[in-house]
Amino acid sequence: MNPVISLKNVSKIFHRRRWLSLSDGNNIVRAVDDVTVSIDEGQSVGLAGESGCGKTTLGRLISGLYEPTEGTVVINGRNINEGSREIRQQVRRNCRMIFQNLDAALNPFMTVQHILEEPLKVHTKKTKSECNRRIEQVLESVNLPRSFKNEYPHTLSGGEKRRVSVARAIVVPPKILIADEPVSALDVSIRAQIIDLFQNLREELKLTMVFISHDLGVLNDVCDRLLVMYDGKIVEDAPIEKLRERSLAHPYSRKLTESVLQISVDSRQ
Ligand SMILES: Nc1ncnc2c1ncn2[C@@H]1O[C@H](COP(=O)(O)OP(=O)(O)OP(=O)(O)O)[C@@H](O)[C@H]1O
Ligand SMILES: [Mg+2]
Repeated sequence: MNPVISLKNVSKIFHRRRWLSLSDGNNIVRAVDDVTVSIDEGQSVGLAGESGCGKTTLGRLISGLYEPTEGTVVINGRNINEGSREIRQQVRRNCRMIFQNLDAALNPFMTVQHILEEPLKVHTKKTKSECNRRIEQVLESVNLPRSFKNEYPHTLSGGEKRRVSVARAIVVPPKILIADEPVSALDVSIRAQIIDLFQNLREELKLTMVFISHDLGVLNDVCDRLLVMYDGKIVEDAPIEKLRERSLAHPYSRKLTESVLQISVDSRQ
């Protein structure tokens, strides 16, 4: 099978100015460090690892929001950082990202209608009434009432905002979906609903998914393959069964699994 996503020796370096430092040198952060990985069509891949290990940066590199400092990102056989603006836009159309920080991702001055209309205007030639029909359809598929199109983000709960962000990512149906911590900070029942939603979408749209989460339990429910990052590198690439069997190879992954198991045991006591 041909990979849909293929990264070869990809690194992303950030230069961060040390404002309070007496020396005038820059701080170099190697957020993603020489990552080579391929993901096949229809696969759902979980990306785990401690805070700051580079998960969001890797997601942004795949969706074309960041250019790699080194290496190549190939989506559907095409290097996404080469070619005209039109070609890049075409890639963006097929590859959508659900952002980690909802308050930054949903424009507070736009109604849900406007938020959902934007990708339709950029990526399709739909008429106003076709856009309206699609917006109602997509609200229904994320289990939100149609009346929500008149709401502003600040009037919505965390779970509702999350659904709006999912709706925005799928309003123009993508082939690849990168979901960055889509269930963090949600209570258990809402979390279960959103996980169900992802499982349905995956079947319905035949999506290739990269699901970023600290929560290995969530990845166990949604994914069929697990990548673990540590300090910018992928240190584990295994079928999800290895997580269930607790037979991950890398010492850091084992530590991660043990700490999750420990927490679930502690919370039952
Ligand atoms: N735009 C940026 N400019 C400078 N440094 C950045 C930038 N974005 C990320 N970094 C740094 O790169 C590293 C990786 O960040 P990233 O956001 O990818 O981590 P993460 O694994 O998603 O963390 P979390 O689990 O907390 O979301 C961190 O050290 C972060 O401070
Ligand atoms: Mg992140």
